[in-house]
Amino acid sequence: MQLVTEDNITELARQRWATAKDPRTAQLLTSLVRHLHDFAREVRLTEAEWMAAIQWLTATGRISDAKREEFILASDVLGLSMLVVQMNHRFDPAATPATVLGPFHIDGSPELGFGGDMSDDVEGTPLFISGTVRSLDGSPVSGVVLDVWQADADGAYESQLGVDEARLRAKYHPREDGTYCVRTIAPKGYSIPMDGPVGALIEQTGISHFRPAHVHFLVTAEGHEPLITHLFEEGAEYLDSDVVFGTKQELVVTFEPREPGTAPDGTTVDVPWVEARYDFVLQPCAQH
Ligand code: BEZ
Ligand code: FE
Repeated sequence: MQLVTEDNITELARQRWATAKDPRTAQLLTSLVRHLHDFAREVRLTEAEWMAAIQWLTATGRISDAKREEFILASDVLGLSMLVVQMNHRFDPAATPATVLGPFHIDGSPELGFGGDMSDDVEGTPLFISGTVRSLDGSPVSGVVLDVWQADADGAYESQLGVDEARLRAKYHPREDGTYCVRTIAPKGYSIPMDGPVGALIEQTGISHFRPAHVHFLVTAEGHEPLITHLFEEGAEYLDSDVVFGTKQELVVTFEPREPGTAPDGTTVDVPWVEARYDFVLQPCAQH
C-alpha cells in the first residue's frame, strides 16, 4: 500500500500525471500539480476556502454558454490572457502589437467597401479610421482582411443584445496600395460584465472594472501572422487601469475632432465627426 503523507503527496501526484501518453500533456499536468500544491501550502488553504473556490468555479461554468465565456473573462482579469498573448506573439518591435481577443468577436461579419459604414443606424459620433496595412519591410500585402468590431455607446456588444442582424462589426479589404478606411462610431469606455462570478470577485477588491474606449481588429493576410489587436482613443478614461491589461502605448491613437465636411473616403459628413489614422504593420510568418 502506498503511504501518503503531507510531504510526499505532491511527488506521488506528479508521478501519476507524468504517465500521460502525450509528453506535452504530461509536462502541463505535472507542472500544474506542483504549482497547485505549492499554492495550497503557501497560503495554508483551509477547507472552507477550498469549497468556496469549487463553488466559484462551478458558478463560472454554469453561467457560461455559447455567448458568454466567464472562464475567459476570469483569465482576462487575472492577466493570464494577456500574458499568453505576449508570450506567443513576440513580434518585431516595428510590427503592430497584439492584444486580447476578448469574448465578443463574431465570425462571418458582413463585407463592406472602402469607407463602408459598419455602424448603420447605431447612434454615435461618426468615426473614420484610415491608413495602410503593410508588411514589416513596408511592402504591400495581399489578401488582407480587416475584421472590425466594437461596443455601442452603452458599452454593449451585439452578442449581449441578442439581435439578429450584424451590429457594429464588418470586414474590410484594403485597396491594392494597402489603404483602408473604416466608418463606425466613436467607441466609449465600458464595464466588463459584472453580474457573474468574476464581477462578484472584483467587487471584493479596489479593481476598476472598466475598459478604455477601443475598436477591435483581427487582421489576416497571406504569409503573415494573424494580428488580433485594438486601437484605443488617446486620453480615454481607464487607459491606465484597463481591467484586462490589454492596453499598449503603440495602440493609442488620437481621435481628431472634425467639422462637417469631406471624410477620408471622399463622402460628405453633415455632422461633426472624428478621425483616427493608423498604419498596421504585419509580422511575416517565420518561414517567409
Ligand atoms: C473586449 O474588449 O471586448 C473584452 C475583452 C476582455 C474581456 C471583456 C471584454
Ligand atoms: Fe471590447
